[in-house]
Amino acid sequence: MKYNVLLLGSGGREHALAYKIAKSPMLGKFYALPGNPGINSIAEGVEGSVSDFDLILKTVVEKDIDLVVCGPEDPLVNGLRDFLTVSPQVKKDLLFIGPGRDGARLEGSKDFAKEFMARHGIPTAAYRTFSTGQKEEAMEFLRSLRPPYVVKADGLAAGKGVIISSSLSEAGEALDSIFGGRFGSAGAKVVIEEYLDGVEVSYFILTDGRRWLLLPEAKDYKRIWDGDKGPNTGGMGSVSPVPFCDAAFTDKVVSRIIEPTVRGLETEGMDYRGFIFFGLMNCGGDPYVIEYNVRMGDPETESVMPRIGSDLLQHLVAAARGDLSGEQMEILPRPAVTCIVVSGGYPDKYGKGYPITMEPVDQLMVFNAGTALKDGQLVTSGGRVLALTALGDSLEEAREAVYSRIGGVSFEGAFHRSDIALDMINWPGRR
Ligand code: AMP
Ligand code: GLY
Repeated sequence: MKYNVLLLGSGGREHALAYKIAKSPMLGKFYALPGNPGINSIAEGVEGSVSDFDLILKTVVEKDIDLVVCGPEDPLVNGLRDFLTVSPQVKKDLLFIGPGRDGARLEGSKDFAKEFMARHGIPTAAYRTFSTGQKEEAMEFLRSLRPPYVVKADGLAAGKGVIISSSLSEAGEALDSIFGGRFGSAGAKVVIEEYLDGVEVSYFILTDGRRWLLLPEAKDYKRIWDGDKGPNTGGMGSVSPVPFCDAAFTDKVVSRIIEPTVRGLETEGMDYRGFIFFGLMNCGGDPYVIEYNVRMGDPETESVMPRIGSDLLQHLVAAARGDLSGEQMEILPRPAVTCIVVSGGYPDKYGKGYPITMEPVDQLMVFNAGTALKDGQLVTSGGRVLALTALGDSLEEAREAVYSRIGGVSFEGAFHRSDIALDMINWPGRR
């Protein structure tokens, strides 16, 4: 059978998902809402917003969609799967990748995620949650901790809801700003937690609610400048595999984190079908959960998808059906490196609409992140503009393949980090 697929989203992550889905012989018609110029060269674009649930419903019905793949978290946290599956207009066997509103709380509420981890004995930083009006109690808890202090808005805050400060007074100001409404209702509660000192890594699974497939792990680079300096961004690059994620470390991740998480979702009756992204800290060889996401990561997906050898669409269909028992994910050995080209000024103010020129970039996968078409010309339309990914026989080769060609991509003010993957190449005792 062929499956008509609707992919929701418009970033580099969705372009990488589209690239992989499009390789499947099981693909029927392929639509993206809204997509972007890169995605829409593979899938037919449907104009509109992923927050317009009525439009999504209409598209599912009119285009006779068999499988919806939701890229970003917002629609999931806002109950898109529940909305579609209860609609009488939608066929009963519509398949959907992404949890319902219940499972999406793993990302939508940090307090929920923390309590879930506590219930299931999953290693994470010690924490307490406070509500508006509990500023004094929160300050007292902060005084019992050692710096740096980690203060988080409970709800979705577009990746900006975590404030790490070195002094009590700064942490107090963070509390005031969150309780004062800086993140709207996402800040009605705050989570204060112990600081975890280590190296971050992202693990991903695709689950049918009981069984799961492990995807390649990856590392992302969040700060704007080389050496992990400067303000946080949506991600400046990624690398996969990650040298310290050897069999021993991955075994710990599986037994201490992945298995208990999936068992927890199952025993709590959440019928989770979709991706889980485990944002982990490697603290001296032991993994701790920093956060759960209920979707793939960006820009990790751009390094992860090219390393999957098996048919992703087949896995997605099986997971959404609730039966991954016959599936095996093939992970290719060749490393991948992704470097993001961003607009000058990002993550602060930046211009848009600059024409993008590209020399023939053989061996590079060019994923569109923030682009648009203007009179037939590809132009910049966001902070993160393009994700350039290359595979190599080694991390060094993959990195070289990206950086030797990145100059061929240009637009006014284009900027990129020049040290993506270097720390992993220099990792002591790299396998
Ligand atoms: P989150 O939005 O929860 O991923 O947090 C954003 C970033 O803040 C993470 O990627 C980490 O770099 C950092 N972070 C969050 N929680 C902690 C923690 N408990 N200890 C150290 N760093 C943290
Ligand atoms: N790369 C981090 C994220 O997608 O949240």
